[in-house]
Amino acid sequence: MNKHKISTFLASLYLCIFLFIPFSKTSSVAHYQYESCVPTNCGHGPNISFPFYVPGVQESYCSYPGFELACDDKFPVLKLSENDYVVDDIFYQNRSFRVHNAAVLGLEGRGCLSRIRNTTFLPSQFDYVNSRCLHLFSSCREPLPHELSRYNVSCGNPEDGKNWTLALYDKDENLTNIAMEKCEENIVTPVEKYVNKGIVSDLEGLLRKGFMMNWTASDCSVCENSGGRCGFNATSHLFRCFCPDRPHSSSCKPGNCWGTLILPCTS
Ligand SMILES: *[C@@H]1O[C@H](CO)[C@@H](O)[C@H](O)[C@H]1NC(C)=O
Ligand SMILES: *[C@@H]1O[C@H](CO)[C@@H](O)[C@H](O)[C@H]1NC(C)=O
Ligand SMILES: *[C@@H]1O[C@H](CO)[C@@H](O)[C@H](O)[C@H]1NC(C)=O
Ligand SMILES: *[C@@H]1O[C@H](CO)[C@@H](O)[C@H](O)[C@H]1NC(C)=O
Ligand SMILES: *[C@@H]1O[C@H](CO)[C@@H](O)[C@H](O)[C@H]1NC(C)=O
Ligand SMILES: *[C@@H]1O[C@H](CO)[C@@H](O)[C@H](O)[C@H]1NC(C)=O
Ligand SMILES: *[C@@H]1O[C@H](CO)[C@@H](O)[C@H](O)[C@H]1NC(C)=O
Ligand SMILES: *[C@@H]1O[C@H](CO)[C@@H](O)[C@H](O)[C@H]1NC(C)=O
Repeated sequence: MNKHKISTFLASLYLCIFLFIPFSKTSSVAHYQYESCVPTNCGHGPNISFPFYVPGVQESYCSYPGFELACDDKFPVLKLSENDYVVDDIFYQNRSFRVHNAAVLGLEGRGCLSRIRNTTFLPSQFDYVNSRCLHLFSSCREPLPHELSRYNVSCGNPEDGKNWTLALYDKDENLTNIAMEKCEENIVTPVEKYVNKGIVSDLEGLLRKGFMMNWTASDCSVCENSGGRCGFNATSHLFRCFCPDRPHSSSCKPGNCWGTLILPCTS
């Protein structure tokens, strides 16, 4: 390190100490972006914070693009493909969350899942964890071949719309092909992967149990551990760490000042 670099370093260190510390100690009102990104919830279900947000309750800059949740009947709901999914839990520490199809809500054995639709398209920020595909077939012509009748879930209520007759896992490719010939309609829905004989005995229970997903977004932990609330500026495509004093680029800690040989003191 030459003399010039050392004096630049010391100068910026002093700048940091004198600009930061008195400022963060004297300001009594927290910055408005920090205030508006306070975690919320829908009444039921998990606390909602970055990368998720609830439009109308929080600002979009408190979230990462593509993570909108709606509060529907006091439950947080994520729209995926053509389905609404109720978010049962969010595990921020390992970036995963558990969902179940909202079509199951309020059914209580009353009938069939008329509102369940295909979930074939998944946005790139989400991925399935430990799940497998379940094919549901409706309007099947009777009689069903013997090898298919074991998969009869007889989830039928004509007044409710669809009557789902067969439930097959995707690994039964042969059977799926036969079922496609026998039945008029089919949809694909993710369910949790677990060891069984491949026969669905409680379709509603299986769908109610839901499945786990994970996400890809900026890491929030450094900012959050420094007392900040994470955000994202969709215009500049930059992660923001909203702190009580002002927005920072990654953390509220003036520890960033050690990087002042490269960057000026604008954490
Ligand atoms: C939500 O956050 C509050 C305040 O931090 C906490 O007391 C509560 O237990 C949290 N609720 C859930 C469901 O995690
Ligand atoms: C994340 O952590 C929770 C709670 O510890 C756990 O139940 C869940 O399985 C984990 N998710 C993943 C994808 O490992
Ligand atoms: C499925 O089972 C139900 C009840 O056991 C029966 O009424 C129905 O006819 C069966 N459907 C087919 C397609 O075999
Ligand atoms: C299901 O739909 C098929 C074809 O429309 C019909 O023949 C059958 O009776 C229905 N089953 C139930 C249980 O509603
Ligand atoms: C698939 O079905 C055909 C015709 O029913 C049968 O010959 C074949 O052995 C089956 N294959 C598997 C892997 O079950
Ligand atoms: C759902 O997706 C499957 C597989 O992509 C497709 O075969 C089926 O026709 C779709 N069903 C509807 C109702 O669009
Ligand atoms: C999400 O889970 C899948 C399957 O377990 C895994 O391959 C992927 O790396 C995970 N993605 C993230 C961002 O954790
Ligand atoms: C996002 O960044 C742009 C350009 O740096 C800035 O003008 C704008 O105020 C920022 N938006 C928010 C919500 O912070």
